[in-house]
Amino acid sequence: MSYTDILLGLQWGDEGKGKIVDVLSHSYSVVARFQGGPNAGHTIHFDGKKFVLHTIPSGIFREECQNVVGNGVVIDPVRFEHEISNLRSAGYQPEHNLRISLRAHLILPTHRLLDAASEKAKGKEKIGSTLRGIGPTYMDKTGRNGIRVGDIFQADFEKKYQKLKIKHFDIARSLQSDPFIDPKEEDDFFTSLDNLRTLKCENTEYFLNQIQIQGKNILAEGAQGSLLDIEFGTYPFVTSSNTTAAGACNGLGISPRRINKVMGIFKAYTTRVGSGPFPTELLDLTGQKIRDQGAEYGSTTGRPRRCGWLDLVALNYAVMINGVTNLMMMKSDVLSGFDSLQLCTSYQHHNSNTSEMPMNLSEVRPIYTSMPGWNQDLTIMTHSNQLPTELFDYIHFIESFTSTPISLVSVGPGRQQTLFL
Ligand code: IMP
Repeated sequence: MSYTDILLGLQWGDEGKGKIVDVLSHSYSVVARFQGGPNAGHTIHFDGKKFVLHTIPSGIFREECQNVVGNGVVIDPVRFEHEISNLRSAGYQPEHNLRISLRAHLILPTHRLLDAASEKAKGKEKIGSTLRGIGPTYMDKTGRNGIRVGDIFQADFEKKYQKLKIKHFDIARSLQSDPFIDPKEEDDFFTSLDNLRTLKCENTEYFLNQIQIQGKNILAEGAQGSLLDIEFGTYPFVTSSNTTAAGACNGLGISPRRINKVMGIFKAYTTRVGSGPFPTELLDLTGQKIRDQGAEYGSTTGRPRRCGWLDLVALNYAVMINGVTNLMMMKSDVLSGFDSLQLCTSYQHHNSNTSEMPMNLSEVRPIYTSMPGWNQDLTIMTHSNQLPTELFDYIHFIESFTSTPISLVSVGPGRQQTLFL
């Protein structure tokens, strides 16, 4: 019986999902993105090259693997065209193994205008959005005003576009922002739609279900992380989509009965970009050391990422919400060279100790368990039996805390630097 496995992030994004999808994609006939948009940045290193994908699934480098941009994704056609042309310049032919859902919503230039206007109006309370127009596009989707990929093939597309643009200008005015977009931006938008029309835009839910009938397997690739989920994340400091496992069914049109494994990716420590609570954040030299060793700068916006210790309470919550079957620990090499490592194992919340994630995470103080660190350079290790004992202790502690096995440890950005346990 064929199945769909889901691979998703368990923290605030940037866990390294792109690398693992690339490593695992040879076991799947299809890789499908189910939510988010160009706010994501999935970095993949191989053969001495580095690629950053924002909307296109990370299986695109394997010719025999079909890649689907599902209905739950929001597409900025201009950025999409850039991604396609970068792949073409590197010798790939994405038009052969890429399919786009007709139901995916389009990000218009005015959605980006509204994203910036909304952040400006929020002042100090701003979300720290990537300003890619994600929130306003999902708002139009749920408000039943959005424009979908399928609409660009209809005769009344331009009329729909103009109507929505006028509406967006009204909203911008109400947020005290100029109702203006650069005419060049608008030209680029329309030109990029010509590119989109040449690609395979279809009812991808049929393709995905047929693939399963044929006995082939699908990997659903999540974007962002569970703590940025619109339902279970640190609301309102979240993204606007369902980043958790259920989002894969909604965002692709695959039944929950088809889901097999839910692979949860986490970093050996924690990072966050943008605003919002982060109990284990380190604002000192230790935090800076993690940022430097881990090159923790955003792949989409270049912003320095906030860094801190591993938060096991939050990880446990994400494991529960997603029904994670196995964990994958990323960037373990970055933790080399610390005398001791702290793991947050409970929170102080309103004068009591809890191991539950409260609705408002800004009200907690982390309680730590300390473990010895290691000094070995993990990046050169080729087999898990070379890993230091202290790292195994760290792994076993996490496994026992979350009651979930860790099946993979990543020790560097390359495909080879992936050790299976
Ligand atoms: P938006 O999705 O651009 O609206 O941003 C909302 C919040 O999610 C901000 O704090 C962003 O920094 C964060 N965010 C969005 N996408 C990503 C991602 O791919 N990785 C990490 N953080 C993200």
